[in-house]
Amino acid sequence: MATIKAAILGFGTVGQGIYHIVNEKRAELKAKLGVELEIAKILVRNPNNERVEGTAHLLTDSYEDVLAVEGLQVVFEAIVNEEPAYTYLKKAIEQRCHVVTANKVMFAKHGMELQALAKTKGVHVGYEATVAGGVPVIKTMKNILLVNDVHRIQGILNGTTNYMLTKMRQENWTYDEALAEAQRLGYAEADPFNDVSGQDAFKKLMVLSDLAFGEQPNWDDVEVIGIDTLTATDLEQAKANGLRYRHVAEVEQNEQGDIVGKVAPLLVGPEHPLYPIDDVFNAVAMETNYIGTLTVTGPGAGMYPTASVMVEDYAEIIGKRAGFTVSI
Ligand code: NDP
Ligand code: HSE
Repeated sequence: MATIKAAILGFGTVGQGIYHIVNEKRAELKAKLGVELEIAKILVRNPNNERVEGTAHLLTDSYEDVLAVEGLQVVFEAIVNEEPAYTYLKKAIEQRCHVVTANKVMFAKHGMELQALAKTKGVHVGYEATVAGGVPVIKTMKNILLVNDVHRIQGILNGTTNYMLTKMRQENWTYDEALAEAQRLGYAEADPFNDVSGQDAFKKLMVLSDLAFGEQPNWDDVEVIGIDTLTATDLEQAKANGLRYRHVAEVEQNEQGDIVGKVAPLLVGPEHPLYPIDDVFNAVAMETNYIGTLTVTGPGAGMYPTASVMVEDYAEIIGKRAGFTVSI
């Protein structure tokens, strides 16, 4: 039976999740796809830190080592920031590898270009994990767009801040306590300023805008306000009035045809569809011409939800290559 050789870039929360799922689901994936998946290299900054028992021989801090793996076909990317992630994925695609990424900072800026490059090389780009963790928003929207137009997208796109708002309301945790626990659980970004300032939700919104409208609003025109602007008094008053703060990102095509977006906390009452979305959950509502409004919701961050959709991307890509649709 053929073997697909893959590399994982980054071995933190998400990278380790991919490794664990690939091992746990090895036999099932092999039976469903007809090929074995072998993790042949793992790129990190510090290869002396083993992190997961039995992986020391796979660790490297050299991307040249990764690209030199004989027969490398898939690169899972779970590092942070735009660079070197963009350069790494470009090189992988140029070498005709399929790539699967969770990195929305990089993908918001370079997603369209990497997908176009991949097309010329006959390989695929999986990016489900760049938006809303384990929620299948990308594949849902791709399907919808086969027939529908999407006019507007509104949602909670950051798990860390929804978790923090929930715990501050339900458990009376302080902002710092809630953020520390979100970090401990692996929800927060390496620099959590991205979560609380709204920048993480903004980057995800730009990925969705590319998909829905084929373009993004001018970044400077999008107002981005984080939950770090809310005071303890704001939260107490909301609770006393039976209302909840949600951190909401929205993008739409206006009547003039312009793409406009906004990211900000929103005070909602029980009648609002985002009111019951608690904990680390995200929710994305897509307004379309034929279906009406379709909302998908689920865990928006964390090791296993995120890694799971990345392995699904792999399965879909390999299934496509073999000429069949994978139904898991
Ligand atoms: P972590 O901080 O837990 O892990 C990052 C990993 O990347 C570390 O192993 C680090 O190496 C490695 N790394 C960082 N920079 C480099 C570099 N320049 N060269 C080689 N390796 C590097 O992050 P996460 O796993 O949480 O997140 C990874 C990506 O996934 C991010 O882009 C994030 O936005 C995205 N994401 C995260 C989710 C989550 O729930 N955590 C959900 C969805 C997406 P070392 O350990 O040696 O420092
Ligand atoms: N830090 C991000 C969040 C990870 O909390 O939503 C998922 O993209």
